[in-house]
This record gives sequence, C-alpha cells and structure tokens, in this order.
Amino acid sequence: MNKIIAVWGNPNSGKTSLSIKLALALSKMKKNVILIHADQATPVISTIYPLKATKDQSLGSLLSAVQITQDEILKKCITHDKNDYLSLMSYLHGENERTYAKYGKENVVDFFILLKHLADHIIIDCSSNVTTDVLSRTALELSDQVIRLITPDLKSVSYFDSTLPLIAERKLNLQNHIRVISKVKPDMPKDAVSNKFGGIQRELTFSEEIERQYYEGLLFEALIDKKSEAYIQSLMSLTDAIIGEDNGELNKDTKKKALVKLWKRGDKNNG
Ligand SMILES: Nc1ncnc2c1ncn2[C@@H]1O[C@H](COP(=O)(O)OP(=O)(O)OP(=O)(O)O)[C@@H](O)[C@H]1O
Ligand SMILES: [Mg+2]
Repeated sequence: MNKIIAVWGNPNSGKTSLSIKLALALSKMKKNVILIHADQATPVISTIYPLKATKDQSLGSLLSAVQITQDEILKKCITHDKNDYLSLMSYLHGENERTYAKYGKENVVDFFILLKHLADHIIIDCSSNVTTDVLSRTALELSDQVIRLITPDLKSVSYFDSTLPLIAERKLNLQNHIRVISKVKPDMPKDAVSNKFGGIQRELTFSEEIERQYYEGLLFEALIDKKSEAYIQSLMSLTDAIIGEDNGELNKDTKKKALVKLWKRGDKNNG
C-alpha cells in the first residue's frame, strides 16, 4: 500500500506548505513518511527547518551517485527532532543545479523503487519547473497520485497554459490529477479559473496562520487559529484521498487523534 504522492502546481501556489502539512497529517496517523523537496534552485530545507544541522545529507549528492542504495538514502534522510515518523530530503543551503554531476531519469526511477521499501508514504514537493527538473518530471509520471495546486489568478493561468502542453504525453495521466484551487480568498475569481481548468475537486483556503508559520520557519508546528479550520478540513480530505477512506487499519479514533495534533482546536470541535 506504499504510495508516492507528488504535489505540483504553479509557482508560489503553496506546494511546499501543503507537502509539509500532508506529511505531518500522515505521520500523526503513525504512518512513516519521507518528504522530498525537489527544488534545486531554492533549496528548501533551510527555509522550513532553519536550525537543523544537515551536513553531507544532500538529496543532490544522492541522486548523482553512480549507484543509489537504500543505505545511502537512509544516510541522506534528515530526521525531524520532534517526529519519529517523519524524515526529510532536500538540496542543502547554498547548493544549485551545478553542485553535483547531472543525473538522468534512470537514477530517479531507481530512487523511487527503493523509497517504496522505506516508508508508508513518500511525498514529493515538486518544483514548478518540470521541463528541466528531472526529479519533478519523473514524479509526475510515476507517482501513484498527483495533487495539482492552482491559484485563482492570471499568473497561474499563464503558467498552466505554457506548461501543460509540454507535459501532455499520455503516460503522465494529467486527467488523473487531483485539482486543488489554492490560497483562496473570498473575492478571488475562483469559479472562472476553475472552469478554465475543467473543474476543481478541492479547495484550500488562504490561511494567515500558514503564512505566519512560513515566515517564522514553523510549518511543522500545529495550527491553532479558529480561522484555519477550513484549511484543515481540506487537508484531512486530501489525506483520505491518499490513504483511502476505507483503510481498515485507520479507524476514526486514530484520525481524530491526528486531527487534534494537527489543529489544536480539533478536540473542542469534535466532541
Ligand atoms: N493556504 C495558504 N494560505 C496562505 N498562505 C499560503 C498558503 N499556502 C502557502 N502560502 C504562502 O504562499 C507562499 C508560497 O508558499 P510555498 O512556498 O508553500 O509555495 P510553493 O508553491 O512551494 O512556492 P515555490 O513555487 O516557490 O516552490 C508563502 O508565503 C506561504 O506562506
Ligand atoms: Mg516550494
């Protein structure tokens, strides 16, 4: 039942934030999760976990190795100090696409095969640049599920109109993406953008608390603001889509406990 989930979307649409919240939700349900940040132009780890020591643990050095092994993957996994179920992989601060030798799709395929043996869920925080970023492009092709984030604005329309034709190959199964409209504020033209992309399956509202957590490097913390409730509900519905609502092992109690850990008000609102 191990699954690879790719989170992709237009630039600045909330991919990294959602990947973290999804990884947290699944880990609070006692699922082992490896969260992979593909971005090499702006290495993510120092922006989301600023004080963590990450020496010699670059995703880039792993992917450009002649042979990728489970052992090497485990060595590059950056553990989360407060969460035994969660590991992170990322390019490191100051690195860029020239820091390591170029690697091809074969390396990424090997990486994915090995990853499936190492965790219950692998979440790939893709970069928006799927034409040159072979890790993100391969994630779109080989993931069990792709979550596509779309912000309701003209810039996202411009991005998708330029990028979708470049990835229109049948093997990428674009029609199977879960299309999510993201960072929605009340007066945004969400219906117009939704219609443009053939309908939207989920909505993630704009949350000032997430924005604050992002600026403070605290996205791994629980949300506590009452106004984050709509975001949390969409997040839980996305986790259902990932693990399957009828997953026998995961009873309502486990999910409720996870909800309370993710959203500190969950206990008040769920009896
Ligand atoms: N649901 C949300 N509500 C409010 N702000 C959000 C939400 N999700 C993300 N943001 C904000 O949007 C900005 C971009 O977020 P994030 O880095 O997660 O997006 P991204 O798609 O990964 O960006 P990039 O294309 O640079 O990788 C940040 O300021 C973040 O706080
Ligand atoms: Mg990002």
